[in-house]
Parts: sequence; structure tokens; C-alpha cells
Amino acid sequence: MSTTEQRVAVVTGAARGIGAATAVRLAAEGRAVAVIDLDEAACKDTVAQITAAGGKAIAVGCDVADEAQVEAAVTRIAAELGAPTILVNNAGVLRDNLLFKMSASDWDTVMNVHLRGAFLMSRACQAHMVDAGFGRIVNLSSSSALGNRGQVNYAAAKAGMQGFTKTLAKELGKFGITANSVAPGFIATEMTKATAERVGMGFEDFQAAAATQIPVQRVGTPEDIANAIAFFTGDAAGFVSGQVMYVAGGPLN
Ligand SMILES: NC(=O)c1ccc[n+]([C@@H]2O[C@H](COP(=O)([O-])OP(=O)(O)OC[C@H]3O[C@@H](n4cnc5c(N)ncnc54)[C@H](O)[C@@H]3O)[C@@H](O)[C@H]2O)c1
Repeated sequence: MSTTEQRVAVVTGAARGIGAATAVRLAAEGRAVAVIDLDEAACKDTVAQITAAGGKAIAVGCDVADEAQVEAAVTRIAAELGAPTILVNNAGVLRDNLLFKMSASDWDTVMNVHLRGAFLMSRACQAHMVDAGFGRIVNLSSSSALGNRGQVNYAAAKAGMQGFTKTLAKELGKFGITANSVAPGFIATEMTKATAERVGMGFEDFQAAAATQIPVQRVGTPEDIANAIAFFTGDAAGFVSGQVMYVAGGPLN
């Protein structure tokens, strides 16, 4: 690629929350961005925000756990924007429950979106990265990877993302591709809002209670995570690979 050519970034689960903030941030850094979510129409706000700021973006409807949809989405992105050489595997869902009450379908859903989704998206994009001799993959883990009551499925998936990341780093490094993982703590999004509802707390009270347990005494914002992702996707981060960065307002025990 010439130095004037725009790099193409793909962000999954980018209709809202951390994914949307990341798409906006990467566009502000000059990337053309493919905004992926389950429903193409749901991506339009993120795309509009990017284009209003003078950036370039397209909305792509795709279930990242569906092999055919992923292959079609990446083919379309390559045709419409160019070879995707930056990939942020952010799409995620919760199906929280204590082990004895968790259904096999809640286990499978979480594994499929996080792990199968990241696998399918990475496999589809890596060919473009290898051809370009450049790639940046960032996988969203979580502080829950260290273990969290009521999240045996999610904790396993998010710990799995870390092993997945380190293996990608080892396999793909020789092609100029790095893989890193960002593990957020508590971030105020629809995901944590839904958790507050599930435990019967107002979202404000839920955030205030969480903040007391965080060294910087506040919960995180989607932009806090987008900042860390932007670092890993930058041209200058080519010697940083296979790392897990906890972005949680303090260390985790
Ligand atoms: N919010 C937090 O506190 C927190 C903490 C740690 C990790 N994370 C992780 O960060 C990522 C983003 O979280 P968020 O809080 O912004 O969540 P969110 O629920 O606000 O957004 C997730 C997005 O992913 C999309 N999505 C779900 N399944 C999909 C699929 N199969 N294919 C395509 N898109 C799909 C949803 O439609 C939604 O737009 C997730 O991987 C989550 O596990 C979040």
C-alpha cells in the first residue's frame, strides 16, 4: 500500500457502546471503517457520526458467529473499502446465570459470539493482512476473564480470547501482523445497564457502587477503551504483540 492509501478497519458490534466509540475513534485517526453489527440499519448512527466528521464508513449487517455471513461481509468490505488490515473483535453478549441454572444454549451463545465470532472474523481478514504485509487485530477480553460469579460462560470466553490473541500473535507475526487484547473493567454501556436491570438496581446507583471499588473512583467510558484499542492498531505499535491490557481504572487482584 502507498503511504497515502487509507487503511481499512473493521469493528464488530459497532452499532453502539465500545464498538461505536472505537469505530469513531479509528475513523478520526484516518481509517476507513466497516461498522459491523447484527442489523445493518442499527449501524447507521455510527456511520453518520463518522461521515459528519468527514470520515469514511460503511454499515455492514453480519452475525459474526455465522460463517457464510462473515465471509460475505469481509468480501463486501474488501470490494467497497479496500483490504481490511485492522480488525477489532468487539461483538459481545451476556447470558449471565449461576452454573446450576445456566442452560446449554446460554453457554453456546456466549461461546459462539465471542470465540467463534473472533475466529471467523480473524480467519476471513488474515488473508488480506498477509497480502498487505501488515495487520492489527485487537480482541476484546474482560476483567471477568479472571473469574466472576454468575458468568462462567462469559469468563471462559473472555479468558479464551486471551489465549486466542497470544496464538494469533505467534502465528501471524512473521507477516507483519500483531494481535493484542484489551480487557475492560466496568464500562457504562447498554451491556452494564442490562446487568443493573437484571440485579434490580438503577443504572446510576449501580455505577456509583461500582466506582467505589475502582481505584480512580469512576466507571469507564467507551472512549477509555477506544483509546487503548487505537494504540494497538497504530502503525507505531508494530513491536507490541500478544499482550493483554487491562483497562479498568486500576490493577485487578
Ligand atoms: N461494558 C463493559 O463493562 C465491558 C467490560 C468488559 C468487556 N466488555 C466487552 O466489550 C465488548 C463491547 O461491549 P459493550 O459494553 O459495548 O456491549 P453492548 O451490548 O453495548 O454492544 C455490543 C454490540 O455487539 C453486537 N452484537 C452482539 N452479538 C453480535 C453478533 N453475533 N454479531 C455482530 N454483532 C453482535 C450487539 O448488537 C451490540 O451492538 C464486548 O465484547 C463485551 O463483552 C464490555
